[in-house]
Amino acid sequence: MASQNPIAPSPAAGIYGGSVFANVVQAPEDPILGVTVAYNKDPSPVKVNLGVGAYRTEEGKPLVLNVVRRAEQLLVNDPSRVKEYLPITGLADFNKLSAKLIFGADSPAIQENRVATVQCLSGTGSLRVGGEFLARHYHERTIYIPQPTWGNHPKVFTLAGLSVKTYRYYDPTTRGLNFEGLLADLSAAPPGAIVLLHACAHNPTGVDPTLDQWEQIRLLMRSKGLLPFFDSAYQGFASGNLDADAQSVRMFVADGGECLTAQSYAKNMGLYGERVGALSIVCKSADVATRVESQLKLVIRPMYSNPPIHGASIVATILKDRELYHEWTIELKAMADRIINMRQQLFDALRARGTPGDWSHIIKQIGMFTFTGLNTEQVTFMTKEYHIYMTSDGRISMAGLSSKTVPHLVDAIHAAVTRMK
Ligand SMILES: Cc1ncc(COP(=O)(O)O)c(C=O)c1O
Repeated sequence: MASQNPIAPSPAAGIYGGSVFANVVQAPEDPILGVTVAYNKDPSPVKVNLGVGAYRTEEGKPLVLNVVRRAEQLLVNDPSRVKEYLPITGLADFNKLSAKLIFGADSPAIQENRVATVQCLSGTGSLRVGGEFLARHYHERTIYIPQPTWGNHPKVFTLAGLSVKTYRYYDPTTRGLNFEGLLADLSAAPPGAIVLLHACAHNPTGVDPTLDQWEQIRLLMRSKGLLPFFDSAYQGFASGNLDADAQSVRMFVADGGECLTAQSYAKNMGLYGERVGALSIVCKSADVATRVESQLKLVIRPMYSNPPIHGASIVATILKDRELYHEWTIELKAMADRIINMRQQLFDALRARGTPGDWSHIIKQIGMFTFTGLNTEQVTFMTKEYHIYMTSDGRISMAGLSSKTVPHLVDAIHAAVTRMK
């Protein structure tokens, strides 16, 4: 009798000995992260990567903040620290301090225990957990996102179970805010719809509403019962001041209404790969916040069980120590200032070169990115001829630029706009 083979291939393994995954098609590269993949493959010594949304020093190197190194040293030297699982909601200290950072230390919402905060996997994870919570527990499943926005937003919210629509945000002719379009589109949204707002340093445009415009947006949204979901990926990184960059969020919390906020420590503490962030849901009462938190646990537990401990411990160590906190604000301001300085250098160099066009948007826009106005053909040309890498929408990361690379970029932009109108 023939013995039965206990590890016989599954029937689907392919009659011809091929892979059971033979029908899996090659997926396209991520439009943002794919820029770095292409950059890495380019052997040119003059190549510049302006696609990646990560801070670089004047020497083009990634930066670990000194204050982060100090906090890590304190953690390593503390023998009472263990590697046990965190609770589903993360590190309690980290959550409290994160809420204080975004809403302000004297926020009534915090004092009245109306905020449910959970530690999540950086900004992206916070958006995803918030999105899934809304899809399960909120009556309106449509989320309005700005046009344009960070490329991951539509995917995150669609997969969270929400239906994604856009509102007008950017006006290419003025390279500024399309405020009328924004108000018109939000006015036409169904009552109760969710609205994704970039707290500051809008990505990819670098265009933010003024405080006066924020106030008008707030009045309109509150009058229509639209639910604000803030994405705060750049607090302190835009202006160099943590409180100034949180003003939009604080205006909405000050009126006593409800909102969600996704925070990331990737940029402002340089903790990109540590994946540290927080989702806060501001509720009307402490009782509602407690129930909301209980449901957030049910979203998180089957998703990744509980968040990682190391990055959150670094953040908590810095935020709770007066001296470390102060050191952080100084290092943060230095990063923001270098970016602002790069804007000025690029603008001055284009002017000096006589490159056709009004480049004043470079110094008017805020945060990590400049939305140059270069079209896809011009971007392709600059990559092919000058080895300058950026997303196809013409967005460049100012943080990836240095005094040394500005002249090369100016040569490329000049050639692109004069040769390829
Ligand atoms: C607008 C915006 N939101 C969220 C994120 C999320 O970043 P992370 O998940 O690394 O915190 C980014 C990162 O580039 C961003 O630009």
